[in-house]
Amino acid sequence: MEGQLSIFDTKQKKTTPKVVNVASVPQRSPFRYPGGKTWLIPVVRKWLKQSKEQKKLIEPFVGGGIVSLTTAFENLAERIIMVELDYEVAAVWEVIINGDHNWLADKIYSFDLTPENANSILQKESKTLKEQAFSTILKNRIFHGGIITKGSGLIKKGENGKGIKSRWYPKTLRDRILAIGHVKSKMEFVTGDAFTELEKIKDDANYYSFIDPPYTVAGKRLYTHFKIDHDALFALTAQLKGKFMLTYDDTEEIRALAKKYNLDFRIIPMKTTHHIQKNEIIISDNFEWWK
Ligand SMILES: C[S@@+](CC[C@H](N)C(=O)[O-])C[C@H]1O[C@@H](n2cnc3c(N)ncnc32)[C@H](O)[C@@H]1O
Repeated sequence: MEGQLSIFDTKQKKTTPKVVNVASVPQRSPFRYPGGKTWLIPVVRKWLKQSKEQKKLIEPFVGGGIVSLTTAFENLAERIIMVELDYEVAAVWEVIINGDHNWLADKIYSFDLTPENANSILQKESKTLKEQAFSTILKNRIFHGGIITKGSGLIKKGENGKGIKSRWYPKTLRDRILAIGHVKSKMEFVTGDAFTELEKIKDDANYYSFIDPPYTVAGKRLYTHFKIDHDALFALTAQLKGKFMLTYDDTEEIRALAKKYNLDFRIIPMKTTHHIQKNEIIISDNFEWWK
């Protein structure tokens, strides 16, 4: 298991040279998340540490949840709200954060992964919440690139089993879920819409909002829910009384929106998992913490 984990870590290190030291970011999430923000964690830590006062964190597009999880484990906020609309992803957080995380940990650990067993889980209709959570984890781990939208197909019959096992680390996954169980009392998960939940907290200055919406062409392939009103998100973000950090790909459209809402931004280089160099844009209410 150690070996498998370190292969994963090495890959992370290689993909983000100079920018940030990802080696300092423990992998806490049970998900492999396309577009995941693990690489940004050192920056997020600085952002959260800008004031010593008690704070709450909301992550309205939580996905794999690395920001919320790191915040919980490192005690960077007293309360954490995670929000996700995708029912497959949401089921996992519902079970881990609001439900019986031990059940999911045991289920993963004791599952005999064969193509037949996997297909029978994935194809089952009308799943219970727990079954859905397990099915999502399975799909996320054995499908190409961790992509779990409708387009990604079932495992081919006759596959010898090695392929699907290459990212199935049951002990690591169990241990991550059990570890989350130790910190989850300060966490809350909401299956729902980012806009609705941000509206609820927008006048509370104690909230730090980490906002990482789905965006661009990649959004369509990676996420089931990728269509959001970016102008409306900027408008709502600009109204937040608390601190915020809004992240996007660096494009003309996004720079124009930042300008429209009079929001300051910084550019940060990163490399995608496919080793493509690109820039991300970080929009925030202030950049005192950036130095
Ligand atoms: C860019 S990803 C977040 C990745 C996350 N920061 C991570 O590191 O794993 C955006 C997420 O927002 C979810 N989403 C899309 N529209 C949403 C909405 N209106 N409300 C809540 N979540 C939404 C998508 O399903 C996806 O999981």
